[in-house]
Amino acid sequence: MSEREPTRRDFLYVTTGMWTAVGLVGAAWPFIDQMRPDAGTLALSIVEVDISAIEPGMSLTVKWRGVPVFIRNRTEEEVVAARRVDISALKDPLARNANIAGDALATNDARSPEGRENLIIMVGVCTHLGCVPLGEAGEFGGWFCPCHGSHYDTAGRVRRGPAPSNLAVPPYEFVSDTTVRIG
Ligand code: FES
Repeated sequence: MSEREPTRRDFLYVTTGMWTAVGLVGAAWPFIDQMRPDAGTLALSIVEVDISAIEPGMSLTVKWRGVPVFIRNRTEEEVVAARRVDISALKDPLARNANIAGDALATNDARSPEGRENLIIMVGVCTHLGCVPLGEAGEFGGWFCPCHGSHYDTAGRVRRGPAPSNLAVPPYEFVSDTTVRIG
């Protein structure tokens, strides 16, 4: 996929065009309308998200501790592409997944929830200087940070550009088949 200029749509963090179909539970967190954190945002350290309406190829962004968290239900092709990558080709070989050992390697499956390898849940903050990457963009079909040109693949691993490490996977647990608790 090619690089592109961010659009207003990107800044609304609506990557699928179907955000109205996706509901949040718990604190009824609104979809992100802007990046400015407020006191309420910073105070809420746990967010529960109903992911039942995120169809394959769709993404959802929620705000957690003042930052965006991307939840993407990846297509089969995206998972296959991520699994095909040799660890030795990665700029950052570590999974950066708060839910597993710190020295775990950045395989596709180590980056995604166990048993739900189609999903990817990541903090949407570029590891270079903190911009918010654009989804379904960049040379590796994952995310692209337009600030200085960092490319992330479909597992959120940095593949090109100045970002030093993979997008972070936050702590989470599934509290039901369709609800994930982040934090
Ligand atoms: S902040 Fe993303 S590339 Fe610099």
